[in-house]
Amino acid sequence: MRAAQIALALAALCTTAVPARVGADALRDQAKQLFGTPPAEAVNPANPSSPAKIDLGRKLYYDARLSKNHDVACNSCHQLDQFGVDNEPTSPGHKGQRGGRNSPTSLNAAFHLAQFWDGRAADVEEQAKGPILNPVEMAMPDEASVVAVLLSIPGYPPLFAQAFPGDGPAVTYDNMAKAIASFERRLVTPAPFDQYLAGDDGALSKDQKKGLETFIATGCPTCHNGPLLGGSLYQRLGLVEPYPTDDRGRAEATGSKSDEYFFKVPSLRNIAKTGPWLHDGSVDSLDLMVRVMARFQLGKTLTDDEAQAINDFLQSLTGKVDENYVARPELPPSGPDTPPPDPN
Ligand code: HEC
Ligand code: HEC
Repeated sequence: MRAAQIALALAALCTTAVPARVGADALRDQAKQLFGTPPAEAVNPANPSSPAKIDLGRKLYYDARLSKNHDVACNSCHQLDQFGVDNEPTSPGHKGQRGGRNSPTSLNAAFHLAQFWDGRAADVEEQAKGPILNPVEMAMPDEASVVAVLLSIPGYPPLFAQAFPGDGPAVTYDNMAKAIASFERRLVTPAPFDQYLAGDDGALSKDQKKGLETFIATGCPTCHNGPLLGGSLYQRLGLVEPYPTDDRGRAEATGSKSDEYFFKVPSLRNIAKTGPWLHDGSVDSLDLMVRVMARFQLGKTLTDDEAQAINDFLQSLTGKVDENYVARPELPPSGPDTPPPDPN
């Protein structure tokens, strides 16, 4: 606030001397107030990370033996070399079945106020327990069967013991979820936008800065704010004009009519890479997506220039996940008691 005020005062004093420079700083100050850069880890005191826990979580994230037919892993739908998504409107799970919603990215997700489009899981620890037992995703019958699989793979129990010292028994469904979550809590993606916020003027092109201005002036940050440019609140899809969808959104989770058609406002980090967009994957062009938002959420019709500018800005949110961190690990081999794949 103070910095912005000073910038404004300076702008009034020396408009002829250095207008562009002052304007540039004012834009950055405004962006720093509205957004920001996420830390390197979404810390959870209830699940403190350790190298052993993260390494175990990485293996579990990639291990398809946690699915009934050994053919679906977290990484099938949230591919870490594809910005944490599969670029499908909805994702094929067990027997190729598809659920009703689009797979959101697992990158940066741990920072969200809650998990899933409707926020029905409090955090990534709770979230990770869902897909393995979901009949259209990984389709395991129950927690005990998953624990039996983990115990049957001789390499896993020692890794659980290292990751959860003092826990007896260490191989539990909860600890599996905690390890996966611990791995997810560092899936962060620094982007050119962060370099810009840190003071590097050249990190954003002229068009992208114009786009940032347009993004702010149009009102997008009323919902897409904070370091993720989203993930911090729920809002109604079709706030100004009803948007056609059968998905009642957060009302499905809370049972409350006042939550109908509310969804978690998604993060816009890596948004150019995570299409198709919306909870149902119904929008397959980013240009259209931006115009849909302006119209249905804000009651505005963007000019071609404005839509293009916002689109240019959104590209600056495409970041990089640490390639070593997400590299596919070697998985411990199955043992004699590991149940065979079950295609039914
Ligand atoms: C068959 C595809 C599929 C598999 C396998 C799968 N997911 Fe998902 N994931 C989804 C879908 C679809 C959603 C959104 C569902 C909803 O909101 O109702 C989702 C949501 C999430 C979210 C919430 C992100 C957000 O922005 O709210 C996280 C985190 C996540 N999954 C991680 C995982 C992990 C960890 C695994 C493995 C244990 C996994 N997923 C397995 C499809 C999948
Ligand atoms: C009133 C709140 C609100 C405003 C204002 C708003 N959005 Fe959204 N935005 C949402 C919600 C809620 C969703 C998710 C809706 C859904 O999936 O059904 C969303 C989704 C999106 C998506 C797709 C995200 C994904 O992962 O599929 C993009 C891109 C987007 N918004 C960009 C913008 C832009 C650009 C603006 C300004 C023109 C804007 N939004 C204004 C609430 C808002």
